Amino acid sequence: MNFILSIDQGTTSSRAIIFDEDFSEVASHQQEFQQYFPKNGWVEHDALEIWESVLVAVRKALSSAQLSAKEIKAIGITNQRETVVAWQKSTGKPIAPAIVWQDRRTEDFCRQLRQRELGEMINSKTGLVLDPYFSASKIQWLLENTSGARQLIAEEDLLVGTIDTWLIWKLTGGAKHTTDATNASRTQLFNIRQQCWDDELLALFNIPKRILPAVHDCAADFGETVATLFGDRIAIRGVAGDQQAALIGQRCWQPGDIKSTYGTGCFVMANTGSDIIVSEHKLLSTVAYRLDGRTHYAIEGSIFMAGAIIQWLRDSLGIISSASETERLAADVEVDHGVIMVPAFTGLGAPHWAADARASISGMTRGTDKRHIASASLQSVAFQSADLFAAMESDGVELTQLKVDGGMVKNSLFCQWLADFSKLRIVRNDFSEATALGAAYLAALGSGLAQDLNSLPNPAPHSESFSPRINPSLRDQLMKRWHAAVSIELSRND
Ligand code: G3P
Repeated sequence: MNFILSIDQGTTSSRAIIFDEDFSEVASHQQEFQQYFPKNGWVEHDALEIWESVLVAVRKALSSAQLSAKEIKAIGITNQRETVVAWQKSTGKPIAPAIVWQDRRTEDFCRQLRQRELGEMINSKTGLVLDPYFSASKIQWLLENTSGARQLIAEEDLLVGTIDTWLIWKLTGGAKHTTDATNASRTQLFNIRQQCWDDELLALFNIPKRILPAVHDCAADFGETVATLFGDRIAIRGVAGDQQAALIGQRCWQPGDIKSTYGTGCFVMANTGSDIIVSEHKLLSTVAYRLDGRTHYAIEGSIFMAGAIIQWLRDSLGIISSASETERLAADVEVDHGVIMVPAFTGLGAPHWAADARASISGMTRGTDKRHIASASLQSVAFQSADLFAAMESDGVELTQLKVDGGMVKNSLFCQWLADFSKLRIVRNDFSEATALGAAYLAALGSGLAQDLNSLPNPAPHSESFSPRINPSLRDQLMKRWHAAVSIELSRND
């Protein structure tokens, strides 16, 4: 029996999942790690804590599966995208905290570039909107604001990368400084048409190419783990950013196939095949996956807060003790209770791209309690999703049904609201770990266990669907109230 190990390094936790050769889950372990919010709009991670959390997750998953490293055919890595780490080659130590994708500190710099009317050029090369979300301005910030960084570059002792690159470098004992085309496509330094680091963009952000990793296909040779970590060497053969991995794990391999993942944030992605669709509605064009040198593209809508709102209810407000409570609380009040949350805790993503917007809860009365707040939180994610689906349709993407995954879709009321507000059929698989499955699929391809995507077995053929059933005029009234609340938050920064 061959086993595959997926490492899913997400925004708030690291997970290791072991699959057998039918891609059924054998064992898993999840390890949360600390989030740091040092200033308004800043979000940081400690890259060494991430690394430790991955080690713990992998070791515990191996031990609960009662497997040794020898029995693992290959590792697939999937990761939170855009987050950047800079580290010293000679010591392996990060030179500063990792700047997380949600971090807004570089908005001023991005605004200056927008004022210089560089947005269009950047968009045509990278498919991305000029926003602090992406890695380029974060790397630029690290190099400018970390003492000694430029000196280390001069001494050829500085490396930079997204989280996949950092983990590969640590796992291989510093032997490999690599990434894959999906993660590269989120840096805003990678030309998605030519599939290479773009010299003009590197010059604009003042980032030397030699500190960036080599870019591989998603199923490729990313090196081997050093034997001392897990008892033996394990080949790393698959890598993709987490949203792209979910697209692969949801078996969205044909142009027009669409998925939406509800993790920390929410990311809707439609496969567009070999075509790059240039959005008229501020959606992103990005690399879906690159296999055997062939690039497949996707169009994406990104929302920064989804499951993170539920985590905020639990950890910051303390009004729930577990995420699953939100379903019972929200079901206990009418759908049109009038309380609206605009979850712009780290700005608003697509289709607004308002980095300075901040969150609000409005429409509260003396009768408002935690049931309304739980409902408004869930609804805010469903409203934002409906806006993204509408933007995609306006860009010519045909939407009939949508595959959903991620922690939040365990909540059936939330799935029903997604269907109601978006007027779409929502399909929920009985396996919600599409991201880890996608990375395992890539590792299987990269290690020769499978020849092509179509030969990969589906471990979760059964699904449940939710169809719109809300009264259409009530739906319109709710959407109107939502849009009015969003406009107020947007206008605060005008
Ligand atoms: O682009 C950010 C995304 O990759 C984060 O994913 O799963 O942590 O919400 P997640």
